[in-house]
Amino acid sequence: MNSPEIGGTQDIFYSASNMVPLPMIEKTAGIYMWDEQGNQYIDASSGPVVSNIGHGNERVAAAMAEQARKMDFAYSRVSRHRPNLILTEKISRLAGPGYERVCLTSGGSEAMEIAIKFLRQYVVATGQPGKTKLITCMPSYHGGTVATLAMTGDESLGPFLDGFAIKSEKVPAPFSYRLPDGFTIESYAEQCASELEKRIEALGADSVLAFVIEPIGGLATGCLVPPESYFNRVREICTRYGIYLVFDEILCGSGRSGKFLAAHHWPDALPDIVVLAKGLGSGYAPLGAVLIPQGMVARLSNLTGFNFSHTYNANPVTCAVGIAVLQEYDRLDLTAMAAERGAYLKRKLTELMKTCPVIGDVRGMGLLMAVEMVSSQSTKAQFPSSFSSTEKVRIHGLKNGLILYSRATANGKYGEWFIVAPPLIITRQECDELVERLEKTLKDFETDYHNSLLDN
Ligand SMILES: Cc1ncc(COP(=O)(O)O)c(C=O)c1O
Repeated sequence: MNSPEIGGTQDIFYSASNMVPLPMIEKTAGIYMWDEQGNQYIDASSGPVVSNIGHGNERVAAAMAEQARKMDFAYSRVSRHRPNLILTEKISRLAGPGYERVCLTSGGSEAMEIAIKFLRQYVVATGQPGKTKLITCMPSYHGGTVATLAMTGDESLGPFLDGFAIKSEKVPAPFSYRLPDGFTIESYAEQCASELEKRIEALGADSVLAFVIEPIGGLATGCLVPPESYFNRVREICTRYGIYLVFDEILCGSGRSGKFLAAHHWPDALPDIVVLAKGLGSGYAPLGAVLIPQGMVARLSNLTGFNFSHTYNANPVTCAVGIAVLQEYDRLDLTAMAAERGAYLKRKLTELMKTCPVIGDVRGMGLLMAVEMVSSQSTKAQFPSSFSSTEKVRIHGLKNGLILYSRATANGKYGEWFIVAPPLIITRQECDELVERLEKTLKDFETDYHNSLLDN
């Protein structure tokens, strides 16, 4: 494997923490990427869990070019167009009953904003203007705009939002690996659901608009999957107190978990609103979607209508991409592939725990997994922060032909992990190749760690 160029001269604008320059990617195809030096990498996380249909898809590229030539733009406030109607119908069919209406956006944060603005306008229009508060989990991630950052649970934001934005109320995320003493996964999840109920009681249900949760976590929790009992309890609590339940499926939706919506795994706990993005456009165009029941949209239409949009919402080229992406889902049966390949890859990653003692936990669903790194499997001890394990694993990944996306939420308070979420088109053979490269990466990482101990 060729080694990547290390020690370039460029500065990285948006991250103070990167220890090596990021590879300059020039070409992509399938699950692979190549940099300007010709080094090949497997895109082990589909970027930030975006490239569901894989890179270099000719059909999508052609649909995009054709749409740009035929009708580049038609503004949604003054005109309509067919690609918008076709795409929203396709999404609502895949989402099933309860999600008949779809509002398109240009990405995840914007979709999350539309979801909460819709709910806010709905309660104002229906005579419940006191409902102003949102509840979310600590930790969590809901976006990068000011409002969605204020919903995000991340202690490392420090005083950034203080006096600047209205923060959501936070309740603990139902973690499954680092449990407080005396708890099982189930009993801790039960406790977390009880915390939600207590918080609603304390705030007063009339003041709470919604509970927003990532049903399967992403970067913030390392692909945490709560037990079914948690979802059922949360659904019951929200219904009983008249609080809207919103699933942020921006990262985990669009087939990634092995079902089109992650919500479909827990049919007794379907949320009121689902928010999608990332894989829906699969990186070819910025696309997000808010899925809402027909009844709510109809009721609001009769009262005030929904009065918020952005210039690029439902632009024709993005819609053409979305349609072509979903056609690829159909043609290649990608949601079923996510389930099948995900189970295969999870088994292989779990087996790797025997030869790679730095793997503490492998969790996730479908082709959305995280590997939590530890310095001891038996004690679950973390690496010293001076070792910068999330950066180190990324560096060793690059040397071994893997682009890894790693994260230590709140500076490692909850653990350190990297995401394993390759494009859904990955073959079994490519899964083996990914695991082979990962094994080498983790061995190099381990050697690096042991050397660092000798140096100190
Ligand atoms: C769960 C979740 N919500 C919201 C967002 C924000 O989406 P975007 O970056 O497209 O604005 C992300 C992005 O990583 C996410 O993972």
